[in-house]
Amino acid sequence: MIAMPITPAVLILLGPPGAGKGTQARMLEETFGLVQLSTGDLLRSAVAAGTEAGNKAKSVMEAGGLVSDDIVLAILKDRMTDPDTKRGVILDGFPRTAGQAEALDGLLASTGQRVNSVISMKVEDASMVARVAGRYTCASCGEGYHDEFKQPASAGVCDKCGGAEFKRRADDNAETAGARLAAYHAQTAPLITYYKGRGVLEQVDAMADIASVAGAMSASVKRVVA
Ligand code: AP5
Repeated sequence: MIAMPITPAVLILLGPPGAGKGTQARMLEETFGLVQLSTGDLLRSAVAAGTEAGNKAKSVMEAGGLVSDDIVLAILKDRMTDPDTKRGVILDGFPRTAGQAEALDGLLASTGQRVNSVISMKVEDASMVARVAGRYTCASCGEGYHDEFKQPASAGVCDKCGGAEFKRRADDNAETAGARLAAYHAQTAPLITYYKGRGVLEQVDAMADIASVAGAMSASVKRVVA
């Protein structure tokens, strides 16, 4: 059972590495006018900027582990004070531990908000390595692509901004991918039960093609975004 429509909405995309959280969050952002908040992107920015938090997170991310709750929560809280988040947010890659989920509940309660919907994206472990190993993004706008599953309409040119430079993530290799998947099963998958108990969980088959998954996700989000 999904909560009644409320604005601003707080949506969570829950799923293992390569489930398609980022791909779908960007599409939902455009369709519903919500703001995607990816803790992975925020941490990568902190690493690139060489901040204290970024320097602490770097080696953990390279090993495929989870960055400490303290660092992640500080970065997220900071971003959630930005005015654009008042329209509603899609949390991509957060929460990832029981501690983060409880801290999020407390943070939202302090402003009279709550989590409106959690979409659990189900994918088979076996497909995850192929998905992350083939991933690349536009260096200018961040649009995501895949060597096999999502190529630009014109080879070497970003569909969204026309950029011609692309990059790959340092942690998108088979060894780190295994560690990321193990961290997901040990610390993040239990949140499915946590949110099911709160009556806000929906499950989507994320093994389908990108367009089909997008259709299922949009139908789900429409039920909670006024
Ligand atoms: P993060 O950046 O969040 O990475 P992740 O969870 O491992 O997720 P990914 O970005 O790999 O996958 P995705 O589900 O977004 O898939 P995508 O849409 O790109 O985190 C990185 C690291 O930061 C973590 O390991 C951790 O160290 C740290 N971190 C982040 N948040 C944290 C937190 N809250 N707490 C602690 N540490 C944290 O799709 C993947 C590819 O598949 C793309 O190429 C795409 O085109 C393709 N694709 C997408 N959907 C489909 C489909 N349906 N069919 C075929 N291909 C598809």
